[in-house]
Amino acid sequence: MKLYSPITIPLLRSSRLQSSRHGFYSTSSKTRLYRKRPSRRYVLGTLLTFLVPYTGYALYVTVSAAKEIDVRDRECKQIESNPNDRSFKGTLIKYSPLQVLGRYENPFTEYRIQTIYEFFFNRIVEVFERNRGGIPPDKHQMDQLMPVHKPKWPSYVMTDSKSVLKYNVVADADIPPKKTGPSDEDIPIYNTWLGQSCNFVVYNGLKILTDPLFSDFLIHETFGPKRITSLPCEISDVPTPDVILVSHNHPDHLDIKSMEFWKGKEPLWVVPKGMKPFMEKHKVHNVIELSWWQSLQLIKNSETYYISSTPAMHWSGRSILDTNQSLWCSFMLSHKGKPVLFHAGDTGYVKDLYLRIKERYGEGCKLALLPCGQYCPEWHQRPRHINSREVLNVMKDLEAKNVLGVHWGTFILSGEYFLEPKQKLELLAEWEGIKENCYCPELGKTIKIE
Ligand SMILES: *[C@@H]1O[C@H](CO)[C@@H](O)[C@H](O)[C@H]1NC(C)=O
Repeated sequence: MKLYSPITIPLLRSSRLQSSRHGFYSTSSKTRLYRKRPSRRYVLGTLLTFLVPYTGYALYVTVSAAKEIDVRDRECKQIESNPNDRSFKGTLIKYSPLQVLGRYENPFTEYRIQTIYEFFFNRIVEVFERNRGGIPPDKHQMDQLMPVHKPKWPSYVMTDSKSVLKYNVVADADIPPKKTGPSDEDIPIYNTWLGQSCNFVVYNGLKILTDPLFSDFLIHETFGPKRITSLPCEISDVPTPDVILVSHNHPDHLDIKSMEFWKGKEPLWVVPKGMKPFMEKHKVHNVIELSWWQSLQLIKNSETYYISSTPAMHWSGRSILDTNQSLWCSFMLSHKGKPVLFHAGDTGYVKDLYLRIKERYGEGCKLALLPCGQYCPEWHQRPRHINSREVLNVMKDLEAKNVLGVHWGTFILSGEYFLEPKQKLELLAEWEGIKENCYCPELGKTIKIE
């Protein structure tokens, strides 16, 4: 009896009754074999019917993407003979959205494809990691390491009359040319970090919310990775933004709660190409989709702004089925021909991408919100997330005047110590002598960028 697994025991029991009736004990083993075989075959069969085509698909995607990148690279080199004279035409050839079999893929040589094998392998490895994130068990100690402030919104935000906001999508040629030299006006930006990549930004009376996230858990309202720091404020305490920018369809960059809360007529949602059906499924109808290098013209209080969608190296989707059905992007806000705010979303480092973004929208972006966490283990995260060193590279490439490091200290989604992104970024910034202009904000505290 010892040899039988717990599953076979009930079978044996029932067959023993039979055997006593028929007088043959062998019936039991027959029954066992008869019942076991099809289920094993069934499991194996199901696995193979899924995994074999999937592996073929992943190979096909890898090869097609590589081929397309190669073709684009050659075409681009034909018009840009010298690697230092990048042109916007070349940029469009190289970095336009790439689709393989109806799903978006990354058109960057720096990218290495992620398969479901890699994805699930890492999720399993994570389960065995001890003290992941290194969160101190003492809440008091945690509060000291990660102070959370209740936001005090800039006063005029609260008294702002209902926004008179007009908008339309414009062709790239219709956005005003970038201006060189110092900007004529010095309008401050107020930025309040609310966790992960969620920021409430006010510039010249224009209120922007980036990658809204007000839930305590990532998968469902009651389960999934849990917030490690409390929310600085409730969603109902947030002033109604004019525009909500969503960089991609991942649960840590857009939660269901925000869609439910702001699904009415205001505000205007700006999302990447292919994401509108998802928004509409959640009853959000005031949505503009932008593809890479497309721009939205906004007019508020007779001031004109442009929000342009720019490439990022990442991916999208909430399940296996909707993977890469919508694009992922970063956003650049420009005003009077000058880049004002860059919201990077999630991205890996692409060496000439940010140079090209700078060349299109101008250098000296006033504030870049760059992700600086979720980079460990490097072999797995690097293609899709930047580390502290790369944050500085992006800052230099864009010639951004100020950088706030976000996308850390909110959930444990990777292997590094939870404070490491802040510590590393600030150490490197100090080393380079730019610590006043590049650091990590405190949750809920409004920072004024002059
Ligand atoms: C989705 O896109 C990412 C980035 O290109 C890629 O790593 C991943 O394999 C893609 N998944 C599917 C199912 O196409």
